[in-house]
Amino acid sequence: MRVALTAAVLAGVLAAGASASFAAGDIKAGRAKATACAACHGIDGMSKLPEAPNLAGQTEEYLVKALNDFRTGERKNEMMSMMAKTLSDADVANLAAYYHSLGKQ
Ligand code: HEC
Repeated sequence: MRVALTAAVLAGVLAAGASASFAAGDIKAGRAKATACAACHGIDGMSKLPEAPNLAGQTEEYLVKALNDFRTGERKNEMMSMMAKTLSDADVANLAAYYHSLGKQ
């Protein structure tokens, strides 16, 4: 049972990785969308809220995973779970590309 579950989760992760057009995040579109995040994470990816982490320069992979974890409920936070529900797959990819790009000046 446990093995089957692990296999199912792994298969899901692999399938998600394969289908998510990973490098396709659009930085410009991400920046436009990031106005919704700016109050807490800053438009420059530097946090405006004590509980909110800085996002600037974070790896794209991590950002995509974090956002998808909030979307699925794998990870829960009062503020982020609500925010993440409004995001599409494309939004997640674009936002991740945008915040990642902020680390390379
Ligand atoms: C109302 C404030 C608020 C808004 C708006 C908000 N966030 Fe967050 N965000 C938080 C908080 C607080 C956390 C920390 C959650 C935790 O402790 O798990 C967080 C965590 C995250 C994380 C995980 C970072 C890490 O280091 O694990 C990501 C990624 C993220 N937010 C992206 C976004 C994006 C993209 C948007 C806009 C679509 C957004 N957030 C909007 C407050 C906010």
